[in-house]
Amino acid sequence: MKKLLFLVLTLVVALTLTACNSNNDTNDISQQESSRDTSKQEPGSGRDLVKFPEDYDEGVLFTTVTRGDTYEEVYTSQEAIEAVQDGQPIPSDTVITLKIFKDEELYRYFVMEKRDGWGAQYPSDMRNGEWEYNAFTADGAVAYEEDIGRCFTCHANQERDDYVNKFDEMKNYELKDLTGSKNSSAESRFIGFSTKNWEVKEVGDHPEVIEDKEKEGMIQNVLLTFYFHQGKS
Ligand code: HEC
Repeated sequence: MKKLLFLVLTLVVALTLTACNSNNDTNDISQQESSRDTSKQEPGSGRDLVKFPEDYDEGVLFTTVTRGDTYEEVYTSQEAIEAVQDGQPIPSDTVITLKIFKDEELYRYFVMEKRDGWGAQYPSDMRNGEWEYNAFTADGAVAYEEDIGRCFTCHANQERDDYVNKFDEMKNYELKDLTGSKNSSAESRFIGFSTKNWEVKEVGDHPEVIEDKEKEGMIQNVLLTFYFHQGKS
């Protein structure tokens, strides 16, 4: 029995020593790296540049993700979505907010923000273009326990899509516009104002019921366009 205990102890000590050793190894490597170029900083050291996005929900909620007990909402600006849809680079000053819920409770805000010149202090093979990242708790305080270096490593896989995972969702999102095209149905939105509460009767047969000539013309135009739209769909 004693012999077995001794064996186990030896094993534990041996394992601990190995673990310490490999720790030292990685320390050595990072020391070497930083002594190679002292002007460069660790990705994530600029996290405080990214502030809590107070007005994130004035932007566009362009996609959601449900995975197990996690639910996420992704917000960004209309301008960023338009740029992606036009094949342009995501503009400087863009903020993308990932709002994360766990078991239906708000857990974190993960935020990425892009600005002209950001990221230049990082080694070129580690920076994510001009993006910086930060993480916030449910009440908007910085979640310092989140390792921002990891955001860089993982999002680097999306370099082709400007470091954004949900890039295709930005590209395919149907922005609501006021011209009545694409997304808005003729019933709910029509050349910029709602037609829901309008009732127009027998305009074609009895135009004289409308006194105001200008209004008459306008309504006929609307009806004509409406007619063409219906014919198209
Ligand atoms: C292991 C890989 C991984 C890590 C680490 C990671 N992300 Fe992401 N991130 C993703 C994926 C995948 C998505 C797409 C949403 C999803 O599938 O949950 C995403 C989405 C996002 C989005 C929405 C824009 C987009 O890329 O689609 C933001 C903002 C974001 N992450 C910020 C962060 C921040 C801040 C951190 C670090 C605190 C971080 N991420 C760490 C993989 C990662």
